[in-house]
Amino acid sequence: MENRKRRIGILTAGGDCPGLNAAIRGVGKTAIVKYGMEVYGISNGFSGLVDNEVFELKEELLSGILTVGGTILGTSRLKPFKHHSDDRDEDIPSIIKHNYEKLGLDALVCIGGNGTQKTAYLLAQEGLNVVGIPKTIDNDVWGTDVTFGFDSAVGIATEAIDRLHTTANSHKRVMVIEVMGHNAGWIALYSGLAAGGDVVLLPENKIDMNVVAKTLMERSTKGKQYSIVVVGEGIAKPKNQTAASFVGSKIQKLTGLETRETILGYIQRGGTPSPQDRILATRYGAHAAELIHRGEFGTMVSIRDNAVTSVPLSEVAGKLHLVDTHHYMIEQARSMGVCFGTK
Ligand code: F6P
Repeated sequence: MENRKRRIGILTAGGDCPGLNAAIRGVGKTAIVKYGMEVYGISNGFSGLVDNEVFELKEELLSGILTVGGTILGTSRLKPFKHHSDDRDEDIPSIIKHNYEKLGLDALVCIGGNGTQKTAYLLAQEGLNVVGIPKTIDNDVWGTDVTFGFDSAVGIATEAIDRLHTTANSHKRVMVIEVMGHNAGWIALYSGLAAGGDVVLLPENKIDMNVVAKTLMERSTKGKQYSIVVVGEGIAKPKNQTAASFVGSKIQKLTGLETRETILGYIQRGGTPSPQDRILATRYGAHAAELIHRGEFGTMVSIRDNAVTSVPLSEVAGKLHLVDTHHYMIEQARSMGVCFGTK
């Protein structure tokens, strides 16, 4: 066998989230300290593999980043297998394969959400040794119970909703808050319940605004002077409106109650990861290094019932992890009077 150190590359792709640096550190330190591998950081997602923006991630560079938000590697939304939409005419997958070989990489760790795991799968099909790590605040990656970034985002959204309670109470208003999640309602569900939302609107549900209006009027009649409505950004709505403005204007029109809207936006993705996300990202990272050591490629690290394991990328690619409309948290909240906008 060739007597050289095994060399691995790490990239972060897609939208950023808290915990990316913790995952990079988890992979890198385990690979270097435990297995004596060489670790290379690839800048700006898959773009870095196309443009050869690569640097050695010495162990020193991995110190002091556990608690830092964002990604020291940078990220981009380049989708190598859909490159025509990214103004690149070249055969991007071939360039990536060529550069992977030229760099002498033995494995590539792709840290990202659904799109990234799909790309990772396609690169594995092209013969690259790929291991995926699922990240996203949206928690919508199939094949794992939870992604890192989600817990931090829920914490931020919960704090924001807590703050809206007091101002809603002072002014006796209906407060509508839009949270991220793309087509998944995980952040809305968790932050809505954690912060005691009165109405929680999930993209997965078929929402009837008359049901929402009725709930808000009943609350008002009972003497509850304010209400909190948490809405996931991906609910069905007209194209030219945000979820918050759609829901807010409907409520105002149907109830006459004074309504205000807040869109939480990128604050949910920024800043330091929660302790839980630091630990999850570290566990994922360390396990990715183990999978590389064992040669278990074409896989994504995942967590099931708090045990770190892995799933084949072929099972993950192209699927979404959405909220089951009969999720136990929905049923429980419903039985306590929370309205989900459904009949
Ligand atoms: O990271 C996931 C997410 O925050 C989604 O909830 C949101 O729709 C999307 O990214 C927006 O991100 P960007 O503007 O970076 O594409």
